[in-house]
Amino acid sequence: MPESGNLVHPITLGPLALSNNLVLAPMHKRTHLPFRLLCRREGAALTHTEMATPHELLGHENARKARNLLASDPADRPLGVQILPREPDLLVETVAMLARRGTADLVDLNFACPSRRVAGRSRRGAAFLRHPDAAVRLVEAAVGASPLPVTVKLRHGYTNSPQDNQLALDLARGAADAGAVAITLHARCAAQTYHHRADWTTISRWTEALAVPVFGSGDLKTPEATLDMLRETGCAGASIARGAFGTPWIFRQIRELAETGSYRPVTPEERGRAFLEHYEGLVRQYGERVGLRYIRQIGRVYARDIPRAAEARARIQNARSRADIRCVAERWFGMLAE
Ligand SMILES: Cc1cc2nc3c(=O)[nH]c(=O)nc-3n(C[C@H](O)[C@H](O)[C@H](O)COP(=O)(O)O)c2cc1C
Repeated sequence: MPESGNLVHPITLGPLALSNNLVLAPMHKRTHLPFRLLCRREGAALTHTEMATPHELLGHENARKARNLLASDPADRPLGVQILPREPDLLVETVAMLARRGTADLVDLNFACPSRRVAGRSRRGAAFLRHPDAAVRLVEAAVGASPLPVTVKLRHGYTNSPQDNQLALDLARGAADAGAVAITLHARCAAQTYHHRADWTTISRWTEALAVPVFGSGDLKTPEATLDMLRETGCAGASIARGAFGTPWIFRQIRELAETGSYRPVTPEERGRAFLEHYEGLVRQYGERVGLRYIRQIGRVYARDIPRAAEARARIQNARSRADIRCVAERWFGMLAE
């Protein structure tokens, strides 16, 4: 079993060298640019855009949405763009567009999303877990479309039946044979959506079975849990999702814990600073009105472990203006007025 000090290390994914093996997972309506930048500063070596269909990324439906999905910044590299493909042709067009624009350093194909809208109605995401051959054709198409490295996001089955587990592993093996440079395994079956404990033993099994690096995902909510997962499974890296939302410093804390056995906790003021930065970034990207709407929906995640957290959360949800947001930062997070 590896020593803690060796659990966080540089890693290479095909042509892409990452400074460490801790990545920010894609999260729908969460991993927009302002949040990615916060995680990046704390040491995430790779971040991902949220899942989007080729239609959305190509701007066929809404050009502004495509611009926002692909909004980036020199400080936000290397960047993985996640695609929810269905047909090879549109996928090839999307990957070629990303390579031409130079926006992405990596393309991640999502065969994991279990939502009814994605896997049911539009037969994307986790719907492919039972159709490995069709998924592998998509991986081949993406790999052939550009020099960008391609990775794949999976769950270990549509259900937990042995047949479904085997189909998902077949998909992972086929993807690696088709040229995918890494696999991220969310260690739940699709039918479990986001509930139930993640089963890290499947990450160990896939790590042994596959010839490419496996990134583990599922229940990485604390620095301790992340190192436990890396130690128990022997997998190549960690894909952090809910554990980073409202707590982007988790990346720094994981590294500190691995290197020294402890980590520096954050102060309420640091939480407030991250909250304000997130808000200002949302306003820069989406404008005052939409930025405010977003922070009202998601800003409450910063109000943890502070005195009168419930009150702060209510204030954030009811904020009507920039002044209200600054007032929360000053009064509840204890930030000094500028
Ligand atoms: C709000 C939310 C949105 C998500 N959106 C995506 C997504 O766009 N693409 C994806 O591959 N996974 C998505 N996921 C799954 C996460 O990347 C991750 O695999 C999952 O949350 C398990 O990790 P956790 O238990 O540590 O949160 C999402 C998860 C959450 C909670």
